[in-house]
Amino acid sequence: MSAELNLATKNLNKMGYLELDVDPTLDLVAEINKLKKEKNAVILAHYYQESEIQDIADYIGDSLGLSQQAAETDADIIVFAGVHFMAETAKMLSPSKKVLLPDLKAGCSLADSCPAPVFRKFKEKYPDHKVVSYINCTAELKTLTDVCCTSTNAKHIIDSFPPEQKLIFAPDVNLGRWLVKETGRDMVLWNGSCMVHEIFSHEKITKLRIKHPDAAFIAHPECEAHILDIADHVGSTSSLLRFTRESDYQEFIVATEPGIIHQMVKESPDKVFIPAPPNNACACNECPHMKRNTMEKLYLCMKHELPEIHLPEWVIEQGVASIDRMLEISAKAGL
Ligand code: 13P
Ligand code: SF4
Repeated sequence: MSAELNLATKNLNKMGYLELDVDPTLDLVAEINKLKKEKNAVILAHYYQESEIQDIADYIGDSLGLSQQAAETDADIIVFAGVHFMAETAKMLSPSKKVLLPDLKAGCSLADSCPAPVFRKFKEKYPDHKVVSYINCTAELKTLTDVCCTSTNAKHIIDSFPPEQKLIFAPDVNLGRWLVKETGRDMVLWNGSCMVHEIFSHEKITKLRIKHPDAAFIAHPECEAHILDIADHVGSTSSLLRFTRESDYQEFIVATEPGIIHQMVKESPDKVFIPAPPNNACACNECPHMKRNTMEKLYLCMKHELPEIHLPEWVIEQGVASIDRMLEISAKAGL
């Protein structure tokens, strides 16, 4: 091992990624494709990744699609171009495979908002309740969960419990409130939120809609209720993408992380997409965690097979049932 690689490996946990220089003349697309073949690796990318990463991925999708792919792949290495909880989920589903994440610090404010030891105490107050957790949570939280869900399958997961069964929903309070409204179930909600979806500006969106009266306003259910109340369509990233493709609208104001617009433009090149503005000075609303991944970090992580996701065995053993159950219910529902 070279001295540089040795030092970068030592600093991995501090930095989150291998801090090594990448030759700027290198054709990263060609190099990454070569590494994929050589190592029998598959790149799974979330819709919020930067466009170049989406374009080199073997599969691009929402949280449900990504976990289905992670469970089914026959690759030896899963490279997760997404955030930490997604890579952890892949590791739980395929524990014998090597799971790589280009930057370990690609976290998630929602997952961080629900620490497992605090949630354990909270859960003790509701001994008759089952726990449904949004997949955007830590692996340890999944050990305290009966069934996971994503925004694509959440209604099906909740409806899978008998009506008299009391439920706790964690960690996203906005998705939880939307589900209470949609399913008519009065659930106990954990008060977590996504730093991206909770800051869309009602006032700026209203002004944009006046300027673009023929545009559809579409929103992810992680947004706050006052934003969802004015939306023409609410759904997961894959549902929003499908809506833009299938609806007759020609213009869309999109209230979710703007990375998804790359696929929207690819699928409907003649339609117009406007990212919904947040309540700060920025024009769009990128997830700083998702955007920690870069082509350089992706290349380095595939080349050196670091950083790798490791989980304690007990976490995998006790947590995976909640994801398996989610996949089972989703398959039955044809999702
Ligand atoms: P979905 O892609 O499953 O809708 O999730 C959105 C999200 O915030 C992922 O971090
Ligand atoms: Fe987490 Fe929100 Fe970023 Fe998704 S968009 S990874 S929920 S902080």
